[in-house]
Amino acid sequence: MTSTKSLIQIALMATLIVILGLMPPLPLGFIPVPIVLQNMGVMLAAILLGPKKGTLSILVFFILGLFLPVFTGGNTTLVVFAGPTAGYVMGWLIVPLVLAGLRRLLPFDQPLVSFALVWLSGVLVVDVIGAIYLAHYTHAALLPSLLSNLVFIPGDTIKAVIATMIGIRYRKQIGLD
Ligand code: BTN
Repeated sequence: MTSTKSLIQIALMATLIVILGLMPPLPLGFIPVPIVLQNMGVMLAAILLGPKKGTLSILVFFILGLFLPVFTGGNTTLVVFAGPTAGYVMGWLIVPLVLAGLRRLLPFDQPLVSFALVWLSGVLVVDVIGAIYLAHYTHAALLPSLLSNLVFIPGDTIKAVIATMIGIRYRKQIGLD
C-alpha cells in the first residue's frame, strides 16, 4: 500500500466523520448528551482502516475541529473537550486500537463475532468512558450516570450493525483482510 493511498483513506474517513456530524443532534433532556451519528463514523474508521489509520483519521478529525465547527451541532474540538461529552470523544480515539486488540483475541470471521467486537469497542467502551466522565463532570454518582447511558444502547447498537455490515462488504477491497 502506498502512503499516498493511506493518506487519502485517512482524509476520506475524517471527511466522512465530518459529514455524519451534519445530522442535527437529538437532545434527550434528562442527560446533557445528545444522540449523534458521528460515533458510527468512528466505528467505520476502526473497522475499515484498522488501528493505525483508523486512529489517525479520528485525530485528523479532532485537528480539523480546532479550526472548524466539525462536531455535531457545529461545535469545535475545544468546546467539546471542555463539555460534558468529552469522555465519549476521548473514548472514540481508542476504538480502533480496542477493536484491533479484540480481533487478535477472537480472530473469527463470522458476521456475528465481527458485530460483537464492534459493539464492545465502539459502543460499550465509548458509552462507559463517556458515562464515567459525565459523572465526574456533573458531580453525579457513577451508577445513575451509567444507567442513564443505557438510553444510547439501542441506537448505538443499530449503528454498530450498519458499520459491521459496511465493514464486511468493504474491508477486503480496502486491503485489510
Ligand atoms: C459531541 O459533543 O459532539 C459528542 C457527542 C457524543 C455523544 C455520545 S457518542 C456515544 C453515545 N451515543 C450517542 O448517540 N450519543 C452518545
